[in-house]
Amino acid sequence: MSESFIQNLFAERIGGRNYGKSSAIYKFEKIKRAKRAAMAAHPGAEIIDMGVGEPDEMAFPEVVEKLSQEARLPENRGYADNGDAVLKQSAARYMERVCGVKGINPETEVLHSIGSKAALSILPAALINPGDYVLMTTPGYPVFGTHAKYYGGLVHNLPLTEANGFLPDLDSIPAEVLKKAKVLVINYPNNPTGASATPEFFAKVVSFCQANNIVVIHDAAYAALVFEGKPLSFLATPGAKELGVELHSASKTFNMTGWRCGFVVGNELLVKAYGDVKDNTDSGQFLAVQHAAAFGFDHPEITEKIASKYSRRMGALVEVLRQAGFNARKPKGSFFLYVKAPKAAVKTDRTRIEFKTAEEISQWLITEKLISTVPWDDAGAYLRFSVTFVAQNEADEKRILGEIATRLGDVKFEF
Ligand SMILES: Cc1ncc(COP(=O)(O)O)c(C=O)c1O
Repeated sequence: MSESFIQNLFAERIGGRNYGKSSAIYKFEKIKRAKRAAMAAHPGAEIIDMGVGEPDEMAFPEVVEKLSQEARLPENRGYADNGDAVLKQSAARYMERVCGVKGINPETEVLHSIGSKAALSILPAALINPGDYVLMTTPGYPVFGTHAKYYGGLVHNLPLTEANGFLPDLDSIPAEVLKKAKVLVINYPNNPTGASATPEFFAKVVSFCQANNIVVIHDAAYAALVFEGKPLSFLATPGAKELGVELHSASKTFNMTGWRCGFVVGNELLVKAYGDVKDNTDSGQFLAVQHAAAFGFDHPEITEKIASKYSRRMGALVEVLRQAGFNARKPKGSFFLYVKAPKAAVKTDRTRIEFKTAEEISQWLITEKLISTVPWDDAGAYLRFSVTFVAQNEADEKRILGEIATRLGDVKFEF
């Protein structure tokens, strides 16, 4: 069959006329395929899925009820555009009550998003010209960088290493990059490392970005999922609102990934520019969803309950992995446990399986042990275990953790 003329019309940013022809298989597709193969090879066996990056439970009943009420109101039916006052006001209250950030003006300093992913894809249009640099952390959530590149921008990656507590070393940025750098994107509690920021680090970010005229986007998708103390907002740092915005989302903090709702908060000019591009991108999230999300943001005890479940699971998983020889340490938040990948596994019959990369051990874990993880080889070889595995109740949760211990118990890992 002759090739469609459409093949020659694709933009270079998605591969031009070679679009769709690469045979490279990406990480998440490889994981999916390995999972499917493991299920086919062991029909009926239990796959323990610690690879998913989203909550295992539904939104709380009271939030679902709120959506149901709001969905019936005729005034909520139309285009929401940049939203009404309900979510903006609850976001301002949330910032004060949960994040300790006072004085957010709900009219000018907050705007809803159809999830943080959407906000991260919109913001580059407001800031990036060809040749501008974005400073991103690696490993990390790539969406802002991907869109910045669509606009001709360049990405400078800052590795997150254990030695630096998985915080980027801003002093490592070469002078020629710094001259053209416009935006720093950070994310704490962090996906995938599970690391949390410190007030000192945020203070350093503010002084560094002030000195270099750099805007800060703090992606706080996991903000309130903390295991001790209060969430740490970037906007609580003196001077932060002069140069940055923070992205909050109902996805992880209220078990609402599919609902698509969050907010952008902080610098008025940046919020306005985000709103102008957003207005030309989407027509806003359904007001009923926004109002249900606002209800959530006014009930932070929901997030506290979710966080305490993750904390309990995390503590137990750390123990299981430590027994298996991993150097696992409980993070202060998120639902991710990020551990150094072993270099080899030795079976009781002395067979030794070597792993050159995290991807190799991740494939082995799913194929041999029916445990799904996500490998990261971007700054050292690490495995990410997510404590969002499905369990019916606490007893089932214990059983699954015991099962992981058993499955890992018949090999000795070398690091
Ligand atoms: C770091 C990070 N930012 C943003 C998102 C997307 O969040 P949302 O569901 O609000 O679009 C995710 C989801 O996995 C994430 O891990």
